[in-house]
Amino acid sequence: MMNEITPETIDWENLDFSYIKTDYRFISKYKDGKWDEGELTTDNQLHISEGSTALHYGQQCFEGMKAYRTEDGSINLFRPFENAKRMNNSCERLLMAPYPEDKFVEAVKEVVRANEEWVPPYGTGASLYLRPFMIGIGDNVGIKAADEYIFSIFATPVGSYFKGGMKPSNFLVSTYDRAAPRGTGAAKVGGNYAASLLPGKEAKGRSFSDAVYLDPETHTKIEEVGAANFFGITKDDVFVTPKSPSILPSITKYSLLWLAENRLNLKTLEDDVYIKDIDQFKEAGACGTAAVIAPIGGLQIEEDFHVFYSETEVGPVTKRLYNELTGIQFGEIEAPDGWIEKV
Ligand code: PLP
Ligand code: COI
Repeated sequence: MMNEITPETIDWENLDFSYIKTDYRFISKYKDGKWDEGELTTDNQLHISEGSTALHYGQQCFEGMKAYRTEDGSINLFRPFENAKRMNNSCERLLMAPYPEDKFVEAVKEVVRANEEWVPPYGTGASLYLRPFMIGIGDNVGIKAADEYIFSIFATPVGSYFKGGMKPSNFLVSTYDRAAPRGTGAAKVGGNYAASLLPGKEAKGRSFSDAVYLDPETHTKIEEVGAANFFGITKDDVFVTPKSPSILPSITKYSLLWLAENRLNLKTLEDDVYIKDIDQFKEAGACGTAAVIAPIGGLQIEEDFHVFYSETEVGPVTKRLYNELTGIQFGEIEAPDGWIEKV
């Protein structure tokens, strides 16, 4: 079917987080122990062996990043080398072939340049989401790492991930786990997201934005907020975010930790966040590339509903963090050294 949406007809202000086929994607293949040069293609279909390890054993990983249009028309990437590094950590966990970090960032830039018309205009709040991913392919059947891989990057323009974006919404503490202790929670691999589909559906079915996951070992500490990390602001202005080996090391979270300390002059703490101590927080939110910062209005914990700042208003610290982060991403505020890479 023809793609109906074009950069000329797109409603930039009202984008949500869905797939829109753009013109070009990058694709590179790994065979006989090496990656080829890779190329841009207009074909968004992959033709792979039925024995591909990605299909049977979940040997795949991905990244999520964005390109931001600035006021002068140039395009910013936000800490792209961190995504390159994290993808290679995921590769290491699943015995996949690492992709050179400088080539990763170069390929991301190529994809953005080739799809430049799809980068949302400055001032719309939208951005071009980039999805690098790697899959194990080839003729296999036994449980072992593949000998061949595909690395690809596609792009799609997006708006808010959570409905309402910077409006507070409510979340449900799930009784399910997304990842096992000492499993793959810290890697960005599809299996973690497959495990989150049912709890996510359950939460959304009860009108919550998403599921909040507790630590899989004791179910006493907050870990993740759907596909985003958690942060809370205590009553005495400490920015707190969970420390756990089974959460994704969020690039947004580490950026907020730095900004909270160095730009907002808050104390910061990466530590256990016990659900029993939830009322220490006067504000709370979810943070991530797709989520940006999504304020958490209320949290359903078994039979109790806990409201942080407000179910309708955004707390002042959350707002300042949002302005600082997005100001840097869209080029309005000076970025710390090395955070912005021009396309
Ligand atoms: N946690 C999970 C499970 C995620 O999927 C994501 C999204 O990437 C994040 C946290 C946030 O990570 P980042 O800030 O690097 O996008
Ligand atoms: C991201 O924030 O980039 C994510 O990967 C979240 C989700 C869409 C999987």
